[in-house]
Amino acid sequence: MPPPAPVMPPTPLSAPANSPAQLTASNVSAWFGSNKVLERVSLVMEPRKVTALIGPSGCGKSTFLRILNRMHELVPSAALAGSVKLDDVDIYGRAVPVTQTRLRIGMVFQRPNPFPSMTIAQNVLSGLRLSGIKVPNPDALVRECLERAGLWRETRNRLNESGAALSGGQLQRLCIARSLAVRPRVLLMDEPCSALDPISTSVIEGTIKELSGDITIVIVTHNMQQAQRVSHNCALFLVDGEGQPGHIVEAGPTEEVFNDPIDPRTADYVHGVFG
Ligand SMILES: Nc1ncnc2c1ncn2[C@@H]1O[C@H](COP(=O)(O)OP(=O)(O)OP(=O)(O)O)[C@@H](O)[C@H]1O
Ligand SMILES: [Mg+2]
Repeated sequence: MPPPAPVMPPTPLSAPANSPAQLTASNVSAWFGSNKVLERVSLVMEPRKVTALIGPSGCGKSTFLRILNRMHELVPSAALAGSVKLDDVDIYGRAVPVTQTRLRIGMVFQRPNPFPSMTIAQNVLSGLRLSGIKVPNPDALVRECLERAGLWRETRNRLNESGAALSGGQLQRLCIARSLAVRPRVLLMDEPCSALDPISTSVIEGTIKELSGDITIVIVTHNMQQAQRVSHNCALFLVDGEGQPGHIVEAGPTEEVFNDPIDPRTADYVHGVFG
């Protein structure tokens, strides 16, 4: 009998499946060259909750999201200060390889980015393959991930067809399935529905709600109704003026941010007075 396939090695960011994970950003500032784009952003993204990041264009939401899984440092001129912890572990600390951070804290982008030359099943498994991780039963994992992403019924009979043959909404769910295959503890989503029709959007929102039962989710959205529908907590980013860095004006339970905000700028923004 062959030896069992190796599974994901334990790291400081590992934890048993379904264990809640809290992401804590403290005093995060960010620069591109000499241009400071974020000023001392602190935010707790609670376990098993959806946190929505809202705010006008250019106030640093995507930059903040990329800092949460160490993608910001891929830009050559980028710099940052402050800390980000997954539970008690500093993701920028020496104990954690950056590849492990990006496996544990996954990202779904605005435009679905499947591998067009791969089949649907291969796309789901691609993150594992690229990381050199073998799983004992890939077929079962493909099914599990597609089910959790709400795509199994539509793809069960076409798993070996090209991933490129799916609709935009299906592609976005395929990308969600792909990010789930590496068993992330946190999923970051940057405007995942902005290119989708209302029906696909509603399916993805259902998926987000399901997933938040065991994964911590952080979503950037410009859609105020979506923020209210899917998120438990919400943070409003603003810039005070041209060339100023973005910062959090108000953060808290979504219901309070929308219906009983502390800062008058929050009330104006969520009611569409500006932005
Ligand atoms: N790669 C980059 N190089 C230089 N400056 C950048 C880069 N990416 C973003 N910026 C700048 O950082 C600031 C914040 O941008 P970011 O993309 O984080 O904003 P955002 O809130 O996500 O906006 P949007 O809602 O339009 O997506 C902007 O001033 C932007 O021009
Ligand atoms: Mg953005």
